Amino acid sequence: MFTSSPPLLTVLALAAATLMPVGTASAQVDPNRFLDQFESTFGKHEGFRRSGAKGVCAVGEFVGSAQGRALSTSSAFSGKPVGVIVRFSVGGANPNAPDNTRGQRNMALQFNLPQGEVWQMGNISAPVFGAATPEQFLGRLQSLQPDPATKAADPARVKAFADANPEVLLQGRYFASQPVPASFGGVNYWGVHAFGFVNAQGSTQFGKWVFEPVSGTQSLSDEQAKTLGPAFLFSELRQRVPQGSVAFDFNLQLAQPGDRLDSAVTPLPDDRRKVTLGRLTLTSVAADNQGDCVGITFNPMVLPKGVVASADPMLAARAAPYAVGLGRRLTEGARQ
Ligand code: HEM
Repeated sequence: MFTSSPPLLTVLALAAATLMPVGTASAQVDPNRFLDQFESTFGKHEGFRRSGAKGVCAVGEFVGSAQGRALSTSSAFSGKPVGVIVRFSVGGANPNAPDNTRGQRNMALQFNLPQGEVWQMGNISAPVFGAATPEQFLGRLQSLQPDPATKAADPARVKAFADANPEVLLQGRYFASQPVPASFGGVNYWGVHAFGFVNAQGSTQFGKWVFEPVSGTQSLSDEQAKTLGPAFLFSELRQRVPQGSVAFDFNLQLAQPGDRLDSAVTPLPDDRRKVTLGRLTLTSVAADNQGDCVGITFNPMVLPKGVVASADPMLAARAAPYAVGLGRRLTEGARQ
């Protein structure tokens, strides 16, 4: 949470701000190159997402707040319940990844708004992404590609790339500093990019969002995590959701003039005011490999009227690889 770990976030923000020139221009990377590189680096698991492979579909309901309505004309904030397709996942490309270790968890959402409008987003359990530009992300993936002889990444190559691109280490440092999440419903999920919220007067307030569990974050000691074993998160979610106890506040940290709005590795300063745009409550969880999320790719450029993208190069760069990734797994027979 922003409030629980300010020193670390301050360090991340300062480190990134000093490393990245403002307004860095960034070209798009061919989406097929990204997908080929994911497969070369992490292996190919047919039918599964190349990132966030181990996942489960759920559905929920979102109710927007008066603060949401004041900031944006989006119908998401009308105050009437809106249906949401949810997908929780574990970071990485391995559909059998252990879920009792430290590291990334994801919450992807599709708000099904009136008149067929949709809002998609893919949120992660860190305030920063693992690269600042698409080219840097591709370079990082290349540096992690296993050597065919040793079946492991070349440590000298990994180090050389990270030394030249220190932003790629920020996210790993954050995860290393956090305990193992006890539940998909007990961890914060950040949007990481800035987005603009456009109100009825036409003025735009930029900010960065975080979904925070209503009942607080919940974590495990390494010993407890070991006892639970490598596959407990889905069943834990299935137990908790029917009790109505998996719910998140959709909070927006408001940017001020001069704040960086184009960087997925630079959080807003800790002291920026946070407002609650509404509450998401989970209502049911699908059976394994079932549910509405299976055939969806959560493209964060699919925004409703009243919400606009920032100039973050990582944001626009996600649309094409997600579409190509969806195409590949649909033709293979989409799972999870
Ligand atoms: C150029 C940069 C990026 C590339 C190439 C990329 C690529 C991908 C791909 C191929 C998938 C699987 C899509 C599918 O099969 O439906 C995916 C999933 C995901 N990505 Fe990214 N990604 C990028 C940046 C980011 C960033 C900055 C975030 C931070 C919020 C992020 C968060 C996620 C999440 C949460 C998922 C899982 C969504 C789900 O459950 O379907 N990605 N990414």
